[in-house]
Amino acid sequence: MARACVVGAGMTQFGVHDEPLEELFADAALSAIHDAGVDGDEIEGLYFGNAMGGITENDTHLAPKLASHLGLQGIPCQRFEDACATSSNAFKHAVQSVEAGVHDVVLVGGVERCTAETGLDTEAMTRTFASASHREYEQPTGLTFPGVFALLTKRHMHEYGTTEEQLAEVAVKNHAHGQYNPRAHFGREADVAEVLDSPVVADPFHLMDCCPFSDGASAVVVVSEDVAETYDGDPVAVSGIGHRTDAVPIADKAAPVETTAAKEAANEAYAQADISPDDVDFAEVHDCFTGAEVIAIEALGLVPEGEGGAAAMRGDTYLSGEMPVNPSGGLKAKGHPIGATGTAQIVELTEQLRGSAGDRQVAGADKGIAHNLGGDTATAVVTVMEAAR
Ligand code: COA
Repeated sequence: MARACVVGAGMTQFGVHDEPLEELFADAALSAIHDAGVDGDEIEGLYFGNAMGGITENDTHLAPKLASHLGLQGIPCQRFEDACATSSNAFKHAVQSVEAGVHDVVLVGGVERCTAETGLDTEAMTRTFASASHREYEQPTGLTFPGVFALLTKRHMHEYGTTEEQLAEVAVKNHAHGQYNPRAHFGREADVAEVLDSPVVADPFHLMDCCPFSDGASAVVVVSEDVAETYDGDPVAVSGIGHRTDAVPIADKAAPVETTAAKEAANEAYAQADISPDDVDFAEVHDCFTGAEVIAIEALGLVPEGEGGAAAMRGDTYLSGEMPVNPSGGLKAKGHPIGATGTAQIVELTEQLRGSAGDRQVAGADKGIAHNLGGDTATAVVTVMEAAR
């Protein structure tokens, strides 16, 4: 079985965009195609993610539409939907199709618009996002996604003594990293007092503990390692992808705070890559809320159980720390256009492992991991990538 490699990566600025989905996606896709130096007629398939275009923009059956806009009509195209893990699942299927020898060259990506440019304000978008919670048991209670992750984080605080100051440190660190990412929605300096003084959204989260609503797109070109050297872009190898799910609703999860799906997906990815958490040089994790990052680094085995908050407080997860987490700024500062987030993490891993991440480069990055959650943590996709040259 030939391994799959990423040879091209591109993404738009995350933030506020007024273009239609196909134009936004084309920006990211063309920059990935250009980076790879691949000709359009070599692309054999398009796997892409969009979670909510049907609700937010009345825009469905997007796969052939986006392909046509890129001049790729005719090839097999598939849209994926897995809430916030939408495009990492598209990426998993693309990688597996290449590993299986079905395709040699595949374009993968995601696109989403979540800002008021869609015509939906914060209240309406919050209600729309809640469509990813249980229709009968959770939606009637008014549970929102800040509420979902607040419940998990409150439990973590209860079990391990995690504090609001520790959570705030996560936001401060990710905004600090984001200032080195020219494509970040909110890359700028912040401090703990600013986080704690910002309005409460869902206890224990203040506004500054939350990722924003963002528009954006991301894309990568995945090829078989057999042909990787024929393209311009430095190849980065995909050495493991784990994908697991957990029960929905939250009340049915056996161990909600451990995020079982993420833990098992990580173990699967580590086993495929034949590495342990100690071998990981940096991580891009799903920090939709600060508490989610604390829980994620524990699920990935990067810090001991219950130590995620303390690790943030000690500064271990900064670019200069012993385990850099979210060098891109994460969802918190880079932004979270949900269908684009999974492949945006792959873009960051690619740039870091090529050594081309500029001021946010992790020194000596050789192995990186991406952790992408969908819904109330019921979907988890974890990817290990390593420098191929
Ligand atoms: N982080 C940092 N700054 C933010 C921000 C965020 N998440 N969201 C908004 N801001 C800034 C805005 O730029 C604005 O700054 P300004 O006054 O200097 O212009 C200010 O905060 C207020 O912005 P506004 O858009 O009015 O905030 P809002 O109250 O409508 O929305 C949240 C803020 C946090 C409620 C909203 O971003 C949110 O719900 N985020 C979570 C999204 C989510 O659930 N995603 C799914 C995860 S699973």
